[in-house]
Amino acid sequence: MNGEEFLRALQKRRSVRNYSGEKVPMEKLNLILEAGMLAPSGRAIRPYELIVVRDKQKLIGLSGCRMGGAARMLAGADLAIVVVADEEKSDTWTEDASVVMENMHLMASVLGVGSCWIQGRGREAIDRGATEDYVRAILQFPQECRLEAILSLGMPESEWPETSLESLPFEKIHINKF
Ligand SMILES: Cc1cc2nc3c(=O)[nH]c(=O)nc-3n(C[C@H](O)[C@H](O)[C@H](O)COP(=O)(O)O)c2cc1C
Repeated sequence: MNGEEFLRALQKRRSVRNYSGEKVPMEKLNLILEAGMLAPSGRAIRPYELIVVRDKQKLIGLSGCRMGGAARMLAGADLAIVVVADEEKSDTWTEDASVVMENMHLMASVLGVGSCWIQGRGREAIDRGATEDYVRAILQFPQECRLEAILSLGMPESEWPETSLESLPFEKIHINKF
């Protein structure tokens, strides 16, 4: 793949929240997980843990992990990958977990699998408690593991439009000083 093809792949990545109900094939799921684990991490500690959730009842439960419906797509997702990280292992756990998320989100897109990043850290669930506590109660990860985010995944209901290069915020680029 050359640079232009890679940029094109980045343009094609979008947040996909509506799924057809078709299963995500295991081979694609494995590639998505491998992409996540190829992420760099501070001092190569890899403090993250990835929880793959395919149980329908748990997905429905997890869809309530955010107030205001920000996680509602989980109820219709084929699966979710919940990214947690041990904060005692590394002070870059949140950055490390984010890179894992982005690698998986991008690989899903390249494979034609729809996915959406759901913020977990610092958010509230429908019971007005912390999203982290709500998700921990369902998935039982240990206290030292902090919730970063959830990637919802499913085969897309429809095609999604790519992002045009013209729409990029070039004014945010500063040369030598702000
Ligand atoms: C850190 C982060 C947190 C996000 N949290 C949510 C979320 O909780 N729920 C949601 O539906 N989308 C979430 N998104 C997706 C963004 O809304 C989406 O990336 C943005 O609107 C741009 O659209 P695009 O991804 O299709 O280009 C999140 C994205 C990022 C990077």
